[in-house]
This record gives sequence, structure tokens and C-alpha cells, in this order.
Amino acid sequence: MSDTKPYIPESLQHIAIIMDGNGRWAQKRGKKRVMGHKAGMERAREMAEYCGEQGIKVLTLFVFSSENWKRPPEEVSFLMDLFATSLKNESKKLHKNNVKLIVIGDKSGFDKRLQKAIDKAEDLTKDNDGLLLQIAANYGGRWDIAQAATQLAQAGITEISEEMLSDKMVTAGINEPDLMIRTGGEKRISNFLIWQTAYSELYFSDALWPDFDSLELQTAIDDFAKRQRRFGQTGEQIS
Ligand code: IPE
Ligand code: IPE
Ligand code: MG
Repeated sequence: MSDTKPYIPESLQHIAIIMDGNGRWAQKRGKKRVMGHKAGMERAREMAEYCGEQGIKVLTLFVFSSENWKRPPEEVSFLMDLFATSLKNESKKLHKNNVKLIVIGDKSGFDKRLQKAIDKAEDLTKDNDGLLLQIAANYGGRWDIAQAATQLAQAGITEISEEMLSDKMVTAGINEPDLMIRTGGEKRISNFLIWQTAYSELYFSDALWPDFDSLELQTAIDDFAKRQRRFGQTGEQIS
């Protein structure tokens, strides 16, 4: 790392990442796809450390989509085991680094053992006020909107405002992502935070996730720093 401090714009509070390309990374090396997930886990840890050090408030990592259950059963079960083990192995270190970890997604889809590991990690880190690390697992943007609408319907509310829906999303109370990154070369959202990224800046990298290091992240941040976010206004109004 260079000795000049990397520049983090003040307007960058929340980074969300679609960590894609693990399988291809492994296959390129003649390894099984799952080895890419293992390598990808190391990167996730590095990203959390970097964001914590740089004073980013929120990092949301997409680790398993509600559609990823459709993968071969061996891959799904490897991912579930990796998730449980990583929660166990990493939570103490995260806690020491003042990171608050929460899992966003439909937790009821996981087996009891994994649900317990999630509860334990969340409970251990719940009072930390450093980086908020949101792990999106069994998460789908459409599911999130539907579950928010269901909560309002169950409360008998029929006139629904945008704010009311936002307040029922799993991300309620959290600033929306300022920057959304997807690695792995694909240019799509794949049912990630579709509501919350309405005004996020998008950054696509061809790097496969296990190759995406903190320098690559800083390159994305530098790119974000050059952009003008207008939120519907004119450039003149903003500057
Ligand atoms: C992203 O990497 C991780 C998960 C979806 C769990 P992929 O496994 O999708 O990797 P590619 O896209 O097949 O290379
Ligand atoms: C998105 O990647 C989900 C995660 C990174 C967890 P996918 O690899 O599942 O997305 P598609 O299927 O290529 O759109
Ligand atoms: Mg993929």
C-alpha cells in the first residue's frame, strides 16, 4: 500500500458489491468452482477490513441470491458450509475491529445450525459502531419489496408511500448505497438491492471477484469521486 492516504469522498458512505466471478476464477485455474468461493471469501474479508480502515459506514456484500438455490446441490451445500464456518471464524475478529455484522435476506431459508451461527455473530457485534457489514444472503430485491408490502398489508395500510415501503425493507434506516460495484464482467443487477439502488452510482469491473483487491476497490472509489450525482436536477443546480 502507498503511504499517501487514499481519498474517500465524504459523500461515499455505503458501498454495495455483487461479488461475481468465483466459479470462472477457479475454472480458469483448472480447479473446482467451489475453490473460487473459498478464494472469494478471503477477498470479502479484505474488503471489510479496507472499508473499516477507510471510514466507510456501510458495506453490503451479496453472497448468495434467492436464485442461487438453483445451482447444483453440491455447490449450494459447499456455500452454506462456507457461510457457517466463516461466520464462526471471522466474527471475533470483526468484533475486535468494531464491525457490526447483520445478515439481510430470508434467514428462514437456512437450516437451524446456520440460523444459529447468524444469530450468534449478530448478537456478538450488535453494539459495535464501526463499519456496518451487511451480508446479503438468500436475498432477492423482489422478495424484499414483497415482504415490505406484506407487512403494510397485514397492518391494514392501503395507501402506501415510498417512505413507508422503505421503512419495511430489510435495509430500513440505512443510507442507500452510494456506489454499487459488480465484478466478473456481467452488467446486470441480478435481483440485488433493486429498490435501494435507484440512485446509486454503478461500477462494473471485469476482474473476477477473487482477483478484486483493495487497490481495485480504490480504483472504483476514485471513479465514483469524479462523478456528479444529480438526482434529477441539472448540473448547474448541483454545482
Ligand atoms: C459469485 O460467483 C458467488 C455466488 C453467486 C455465490 P459465481 O459463483 O457466480 O461465479 P461465476 O459467475 O460462475 O464465475
Ligand atoms: C449474483 O451472481 C449473486 C451473487 C453474487 C451472490 P450470479 O452469478 O448468481 O448472477 P447471474 O446468475 O449471473 O445473473
Ligand atoms: Mg456468477
